[in-house]
Amino acid sequence: MGVYDDVHRASQDDPEAFWLAAAAAIDWTAPPTRALDAANPPFHRWFPDAELNVCHNAVDRHVAAGRGEQPAIVHDSPVTGSVRRITYAELQDEVARFAGVLAGLGVGRGDRVVVYLPMIPEAAVAMLACARLGAVHSVVFGGFAPKELAARIDDATPAVVVTASCGIEVARVIEYKPLLDAALDLATHRPAHCVVLQRPQATATLGERDVDWAAAVATAVPHDCVPVRATDPLYILYTSGTTGKPKGVVRDGGGYAVALAWTMPNVFAVGPGETMFTASDVGWVVGHSYIVYGPLLVGATSVLYEGKPVGTPDAGQFWRVVQDHRVRSLFTAPTAFRAIRKEDPDGTLLARYDISSLRQLFLAGERLDPETHRWAGERLGVPVIDNWWQTETGWPIVANPAGIELLPVKPGSPTRPMPGWDVRVLDPAGRPVPPGVDGAIVLGLPLPPGALPTLWNDDERYVASYLSAFPGCYLTGDGGHVDEDGYVFVMGRTDDVINVAGHRLSTGGLEEVLAAHPDVAECAVIGVADGLKGQVPRGFVVLKAGVERDEHELAAELVQLVREQIGAVASLREVAVVPALPKTRSGKILRRTMRGIADGVDEPVPGTIENVAVLDALRPILRR
Ligand code: COA
Ligand code: AMP
Repeated sequence: MGVYDDVHRASQDDPEAFWLAAAAAIDWTAPPTRALDAANPPFHRWFPDAELNVCHNAVDRHVAAGRGEQPAIVHDSPVTGSVRRITYAELQDEVARFAGVLAGLGVGRGDRVVVYLPMIPEAAVAMLACARLGAVHSVVFGGFAPKELAARIDDATPAVVVTASCGIEVARVIEYKPLLDAALDLATHRPAHCVVLQRPQATATLGERDVDWAAAVATAVPHDCVPVRATDPLYILYTSGTTGKPKGVVRDGGGYAVALAWTMPNVFAVGPGETMFTASDVGWVVGHSYIVYGPLLVGATSVLYEGKPVGTPDAGQFWRVVQDHRVRSLFTAPTAFRAIRKEDPDGTLLARYDISSLRQLFLAGERLDPETHRWAGERLGVPVIDNWWQTETGWPIVANPAGIELLPVKPGSPTRPMPGWDVRVLDPAGRPVPPGVDGAIVLGLPLPPGALPTLWNDDERYVASYLSAFPGCYLTGDGGHVDEDGYVFVMGRTDDVINVAGHRLSTGGLEEVLAAHPDVAECAVIGVADGLKGQVPRGFVVLKAGVERDEHELAAELVQLVREQIGAVASLREVAVVPALPKTRSGKILRRTMRGIADGVDEPVPGTIENVAVLDALRPILRR
């Protein structure tokens, strides 16, 4: 038995002692006297009697401890040709001032602030300023279209929205302010103010309720950290469920801070003064946990990269960043590596840089295919650590704990459960399956600190979505197995969630957009395997009776609708007009069967199929 086994067992045998010990890494205004509150099952709360301020832990305490001159954030932005280093002392000043701005606009403890910003340091500043005030941020990924932003604004009902004049994509400047204005036209909720950061690449027109970031910060009174309960929400992060309505995952501050502070040295092997480069986006959970909060909680330096793995301008940028900022741990999605490999299969660009500071590569967000795993390991010469988790869990459920002990790797497996996670695999009747047999991957309750306590304003949906299928367990929505050695293999979602270039999307949400077209009677969207993005959506529509349309013209309209209503990230490019959709006798569309055929997998046709001829007619289109 190795160290990992001991640590994991300790977390299972005595979670109270394990997490109270982990809590010592955090500064509390009222330290926890106990860890778990299980008085109200199926709800669980961590550190119920403790108080803290997460911003103090991520910023101020490091300045007080003498790290004021160390870079906290390095904004490396090949799309603007700039690199900006922000020390902990500067970050403290910027965050305190921006907290002053928000407080001046009426934002207080518990109020929500929606943050719709590109990959610029001000995104982290806005998040930390909310944390400083005990306000709740909700960051919306910049690639989402106005309708998605509006849905989040209506659910979170923010007092203030923070945005910028623009974001920068590979070949274009995307103006954010018109997108926000369009979202506010669609939303029923009205924030009192919008704070707008003007960037040199575009100037936003400000209206009556708008506040200019720079002007407001210039005159702001810095605001101190407000202690809040450990169980108070730190943020809401919306993620795709199986319907078009996003789920507002709630994260509380105390448990999250403890869990992240535990993972930084033990999983990611990054400590104070060391540099982590997480190439993701602040709009995703990976960005929340390992661009912003995780590295800052332990006094590390975080690289905030505004660019792509390829095309900004080339496939060598990750290596340049590793070299220039002496990166110790690099974390990104497998898609990014597939994109780099496609552009630079022999690592010619890699050879131009000194990446000797790099100790390990972490990949998450989608299944890591063994070929990409192998290529990355061979090219970089460092351990490649697959880790499996979700927006809901906040930090890795399954990983290889590089800071404790590197376990032997099995390609295709993100390795073994991290402390606090009780991973089980069940059959449809809720019985545990033997090792090696696929089933639903669930997590025994209580979930550890840092995992979601509920959904925003919707305890009922939380219970219905996650806790009802198998009593006493949290349903991950992923299927897979655990082998005889305890290695977890995650094979894919068992619901209608798809993963496109590490972006989580709902096929139900895409279907809602297609179904709203006046010529469409019914439709199905499935995720099909894609060599670069892991999965991409494909749409199938049945026309209303009597409608005659050119297929290409209609497909182009539908693709455009999805770009306008969900966002270009959905990457829907193919829509086919079909005479009918295969269904069960009770009217359920056989999406799984369709997906299997499209992926060339021998998917059994359910006995409940209504009309086999419809499916047979679809086969050649699916296989295309
Ligand atoms: N704001 C606005 N638009 C955005 C956006 C943003 N923040 N992010 C992406 N888009 C747009 C892109 O411009 C693109 O538009 P287009 O169809 O007009 O070209 C579309 O959304 C699809 O973008 P993307 O998924 O980035 O695909 P791509 O083909 O441009 O690039 C990769 C492919 C592999 C380079 C890219 O997907 C990538 O960097 N993946 C890494 C994923 C990742 O970090 N995931 C986070 C989870 S850990
Ligand atoms: P998100 O909530 O956006 O982080 O997406 C979470 C989903 O991405 C999970 O439920 C999985 O389906 C998938 N996922 C994330 N990491 C991995 C991984 N390492 N291996 C397989 N699937 C993953």
